[in-house]
Amino acid sequence: MDVLTDAGRRFLAATAPEHTPVQAEMADLADEWGFPIIGPESGAVLRLLARLTDASRVFEFGSGFGYSATWFLRGGADGVVCTEFDADEAERGVAFAADHGYADSVTFEVGDAMETVERYDGPFDVVLIDHQKGRYADAYRTVLPKVRSGGVIVADNITRGPIDFDDLVAHFEAGEPLPDSAVDEETRGIGEYLGTVRSDDAVETAVLPVGSGIAVSTVVR
Ligand SMILES: C[S@@+](CC[C@H](N)C(=O)[O-])C[C@H]1O[C@@H](n2cnc3c(N)ncnc32)[C@H](O)[C@@H]1O
Repeated sequence: MDVLTDAGRRFLAATAPEHTPVQAEMADLADEWGFPIIGPESGAVLRLLARLTDASRVFEFGSGFGYSATWFLRGGADGVVCTEFDADEAERGVAFAADHGYADSVTFEVGDAMETVERYDGPFDVVLIDHQKGRYADAYRTVLPKVRSGGVIVADNITRGPIDFDDLVAHFEAGEPLPDSAVDEETRGIGEYLGTVRSDDAVETAVLPVGSGIAVSTVVR
């Protein structure tokens, strides 16, 4: 199930910004590894959000080798805190950042993003949530007090990825229960995340059907 037609998807891909040479290398590595980077359509939105918020500090939950971070930096962000479980991916990320001329702007923290975020004070201008889907809502609740008013929280894989989109449609359209967490933790996690941000007066949320689908929440408190 896809929210876009094939023509729509091809149109968005064809009109997305060009990769820089280093981003093209990262995309090639993602293809080789079968690694889920956010891609240029959503990357363009990350770049736009960094630009619109005049971002100084960005925090990411789940960075891989730093592809999404490069879009924030292309949008003028001063610095991105990248978090990653996998030390090899983080090492690649440090090397890619250096190749890009971003060595001083990217900090890779190896370990659990949920623990790393506790060690950082805000304020952050933009946050990307792109780690374990079952922990999105927790990540949101933890980071929200550290995001400045007017800042933005983006969550990836809202309409595509390791989720059952039909279950999400049934939940939000007809109030069907979310799937049992033991069976489909990812779908349940995305459903809970959307339910959380949509019912929280501290943010205003829009779901954009670009890439794997992103939820963009602006902090309005
Ligand atoms: C979808 S990928 C991130 C892609 C990246 N944001 C991009 O677009 O370039 C998710 C990454 O999060 C990492 N990850 C998952 N849970 C994590 C956690 N709790 N703490 C740190 N990293 C985590 C995984 O190892 C994986 O590399």
